[in-house]
Amino acid sequence: MTRYSRVIGTGGYLPEEIRSNEQISQLVDTSDSWIFERTGIKNRRIAGPHETASSMAEIAARQAIEAAGCDAEEIDLIIVATGTPDRVYPSTGCLLQQRLGIKNCVAFDVQAACSGSIFALSIADQYIKTGAASKVLVVGSELCSRIVDWTDRGTCILFGDGAGALLLAASDEAGILSTHIHSDGQYEELLYCPNPQVATEANKDEAGFISMRGNEVFKVAVNTLGRIVDETLEANNMQQSGIDWLVPHQANTRIIAATAKKLKMSMDNVILTLENQGNTSSASVLLALNEGVRDGRIQRGQVVLLEAFGAGFTWGSALIKY
Ligand code: COA
Repeated sequence: MTRYSRVIGTGGYLPEEIRSNEQISQLVDTSDSWIFERTGIKNRRIAGPHETASSMAEIAARQAIEAAGCDAEEIDLIIVATGTPDRVYPSTGCLLQQRLGIKNCVAFDVQAACSGSIFALSIADQYIKTGAASKVLVVGSELCSRIVDWTDRGTCILFGDGAGALLLAASDEAGILSTHIHSDGQYEELLYCPNPQVATEANKDEAGFISMRGNEVFKVAVNTLGRIVDETLEANNMQQSGIDWLVPHQANTRIIAATAKKLKMSMDNVILTLENQGNTSSASVLLALNEGVRDGRIQRGQVVLLEAFGAGFTWGSALIKY
């Protein structure tokens, strides 16, 4: 009998503070209409000074565990995707394990920028399929607002904070049908975030803020996500019409619309959270999935395509029978 990974619970957390396009227009030379037309974003959430990736992860994780109706002690693996860990070490995964009070499990982080949740999901699926784990907690948690330069209008308009989580369990019933992850390290200069603490003489003056050549990233993202759609459909011997929902990484409405078009899918079948959350990096796909599940749009038995693209470049997809 095939052993699948099944989603048994989802959760999400968004910090309280809302920062609107109008507020950003007071910081940099931009406008609500420019931001909304080019990106689809109107608001984003900003974490409070007391919040960290692990504190937000804990809230999202507890929601997922509660939705699954299981005990945290049953979890045997925690994978946290984050580009804004609380500490260099221990990993945010270990800090989350501590917060959840789980004694006997393995915990680690995955760093794949905005594709982090898909990478984490793919790893989790391998562990479950091979029998190495039975219940895996996957979390994406990001404090993008702390690594954004609030004087750079090319990036500060895009990002937001938040955490998304899901709990996977081994099952005989179909769940994750396939995952596909890729990296191409030659694009460092198009999108990166320095770590000033480990700077060399050559880059000692770089601040720890996101640096992005947005227009070039945009073009690669559209082409790459088109290819991952083809790869996912082919691997599952499936037509576009077999997919009920697209749950994309929330970077830009125009990128998402291009992927929906590739799938011959109406935007009504796309879970969009971008308008009020911005790009929450590795949290975005999990937050969108959680929203679609909790508001009842995504139903058991439906086929859902998750996809993401991020710095590296990294990109990936997961096809799930929910
Ligand atoms: N407000 C007003 N004008 C702005 C602006 C802002 N916030 N940001 C850039 N501009 C200006 C530029 O300076 C440029 O002016 P110029 O023509 O006088 O030189 C003009 O708008 C066009 O800039 P460009 O960068 O070509 O715009 P764009 O249509 O590509 O939109 C992004 C910019 C960032 C919204 C878009 O490129 C994008 O979303 N890229 C993908 C980003 C992404 O997904 N990153 C994360 C990957 S996970």
